Amino acid sequence: MAIVTTGDGSPTLYCEAVREHYHSTRDGAFTEALHKHVLPAWEYRLRGRPEAVVLDLCFGLGYNTLVLLWLLQRMGYAGRLQVWSPERDAALLAGLESFPYPAELAALRPVVRALARQRRWIDRKLRIEVVVSEARAFIAGLAGPVDIVFHDPFSPRCNPSLWTREFFAGYRRLGAADLLVTTYSTATAVRLGLFENGFRIYEHRPRARVRSSTLATLGRLPETEIDMELKKQRNLRAASLRD
Ligand SMILES: C[S@@+](CC[C@H](N)C(=O)[O-])C[C@H]1O[C@@H](n2cnc3c(N)ncnc32)[C@H](O)[C@@H]1O
Repeated sequence: MAIVTTGDGSPTLYCEAVREHYHSTRDGAFTEALHKHVLPAWEYRLRGRPEAVVLDLCFGLGYNTLVLLWLLQRMGYAGRLQVWSPERDAALLAGLESFPYPAELAALRPVVRALARQRRWIDRKLRIEVVVSEARAFIAGLAGPVDIVFHDPFSPRCNPSLWTREFFAGYRRLGAADLLVTTYSTATAVRLGLFENGFRIYEHRPRARVRSSTLATLGRLPETEIDMELKKQRNLRAASLRD
């Protein structure tokens, strides 16, 4: 895998095996994690709450979890947080200590070191568990409720089993009553897979010049909801991905 500098100057990886970057090179690794995953989680599910459980699927370089910690520190979040994160690539995790994370994440080096060596970080208010596992097997064994999911595998082309209606049924089973799922994908097939599991679907337009993304929730959000029934009527060939 090669290290690549992305649009905001933060580095990511290019995976030759699947011919995909770990992040949008246009938006930037740090910016993508912040705007598509972490800020919606903060604004809609974390701010003002005493505790939360996050599922970060899949850990990869860990930007979503690390940027979340960075933001919570800046916001003075005083609640308790648990993060569960499956990742199948043990060698990648072991090498994270030498990855050149951006300066914003420098203070989190001890967390990165612990995750690379023990795959776990526990302090008074924070518990992070990174588990070497296939994501499907991992969520089948996870007990909920989960408040927030950062859904961040490779694209449906490379990771088809992690984008199906049946896979998203696992989120439905694990989710708290107002579970929030964040994902970079805006594909109708992906949105339908979530919708058919009872999620409301929202187009998320970050304020910065960052591509749109998708928010899905079992509750409600103060963003523009997409009428998925209308989408289906207008495109009779639109269908969710299936196992
Ligand atoms: C797009 S990258 C994740 C980006 C990550 N959120 C980050 O901030 O770096 C996708 C990751 O999913 C992992 N992965 C792919 N298929 C998987 C599976 N079936 N189960 C668990 N992890 C998987 C890959 O090893 C890779 O690290």
